[in-house]
Amino acid sequence: MTKRLEGRILAGAVRSRVCSRVTAGLRAGASTPPGLLMIRVGEDPASISYVRGKEKAAAETGIVSRVEVLDLSTSEAVLLARIAEANRDPAIHGLLVQWPLPKQIRPEAASEAIDPAKDVDGLHPYNLGRLALGRPSIVPCTPLGILALLHAGRVPVAGARVVVLGRSQIVGRPLSLLLGVKADWADATVTTAHSHSRGLVNLAREADILVAAIGRPGAVTAEMVKPGATVVDVGIHRLDDPAAPKGVRIVGDVDAAGVEPVAGWLTPVPGGVGPLTVAMLLANTMEAWERACGVIGPATWMEACGLIPEGPGSGELVSGGLGE
Ligand code: GUN
Repeated sequence: MTKRLEGRILAGAVRSRVCSRVTAGLRAGASTPPGLLMIRVGEDPASISYVRGKEKAAAETGIVSRVEVLDLSTSEAVLLARIAEANRDPAIHGLLVQWPLPKQIRPEAASEAIDPAKDVDGLHPYNLGRLALGRPSIVPCTPLGILALLHAGRVPVAGARVVVLGRSQIVGRPLSLLLGVKADWADATVTTAHSHSRGLVNLAREADILVAAIGRPGAVTAEMVKPGATVVDVGIHRLDDPAAPKGVRIVGDVDAAGVEPVAGWLTPVPGGVGPLTVAMLLANTMEAWERACGVIGPATWMEACGLIPEGPGSGELVSGGLGE
């Protein structure tokens, strides 16, 4: 029977660890609480909802967050000037520009403008470069959450054959780098597949760990999954469904009903990867703050992985079946 990797539960544990470290840092003499600035450009409904979720979660952990909303017509120059100002602000330790951005703004220009020490999305070339070199500093939130979830669920990663479906800058590319790092918490054999990959079904079916980050609802079907494989679903889509409560159904990139009888482990949607992305943003912000204040000594991203509860707690991270 497929077991679920409950990201929501691990995310709660991560948030409470962040909260206690913030409290400890303030007691140890940090002069300001951690500050997170999130810049949203335009009124994309999904972005509004994601940023609101991040704001709420930040408040619960003692991180002071602020959301700035810029008009959809904002020029790249204006956004970059605002980023430069936030880079100089000592009360801001984490800075995030929510994607997608309107077409007049190059996402890479925004990422490169952010001070790498405040780049809590981990998308600056400095941070991605360190990841590529196997010396991660700030790691993008969704890949970090997936790594933590695999470890919390005791899914063997070292030596595993991983297929990542998707090569986005935010998820697919950095996750492939992260899982292939030479370290006992990674050491996987990783293939990054994309829309031009030939023989996708067979490729996917070789995976011990299959990550679906394609952005298409139900794209991963049972025939693509090796029996017993761990399937990580990064997708989140709102589909109109008159039969569902509120007329909307949330689904992932995986055809969960079809894959469930085949997979060994599956991350649910909602409640899988999504909450962990938010929790890891808070962990990255807390670490950036600790480093800036020097309150606890230089923290590393590995401490974010140390947020994974050890021992009996991890048993609560999984449950028996999709129907539960
Ligand atoms: N849009 C969707 N996911 C993300 C994310 O993790 N970071 C940013 N900045 N934008 C996003």
